[in-house]
Amino acid sequence: MAESLILLDGPASREDKYRNLMPQIEALISGENDLIANMANVSAALKQTFNFFWVGFYIVRESELVLGPFQGPVACSRIKYGKGVCGKAWQDGISVVVPDVDAFPGHIVCNSASKSEIVVPVFNQGKTIAVLDVDSNSLNDFGTVDVLYLEKIAGLLF
Ligand code: SME
Repeated sequence: MAESLILLDGPASREDKYRNLMPQIEALISGENDLIANMANVSAALKQTFNFFWVGFYIVRESELVLGPFQGPVACSRIKYGKGVCGKAWQDGISVVVPDVDAFPGHIVCNSASKSEIVVPVFNQGKTIAVLDVDSNSLNDFGTVDVLYLEKIAGLLF
């Protein structure tokens, strides 16, 4: 397909935007088996659609997460197992929604403008091999709709 996104015109709910985006992400990554290329396009598609403050992946490398493809301001390069929101999602193997990062014990501050976030594990054959991290500069910006669709998107990578 042509490498461009078709965005919804005018006001649309976040769910409508995800629904519009899903088949386009599927089309974008279905013909490509390189994980880094697909993570890069997923980050760009989410950033372009929602203009989130920061969208990207951290990839499991031995006992740490290492920064992968992302869109947004520069970020921490490495996060240890169990540390911060990303490390917690990796450790527990479940999505973590944080309405107020200042209220999350051990939150790693990469950028003080980030106020809320969601982190979703990326599984390959039942093992967490990366996490998808989305940060917002608004408090309480993520909910069940984001969990549903971001988990579906993470599931498309394998
Ligand atoms: N906030 C994250 C660190 C990564 S940055 O936000 C990009 C955390 O506590 O895991």
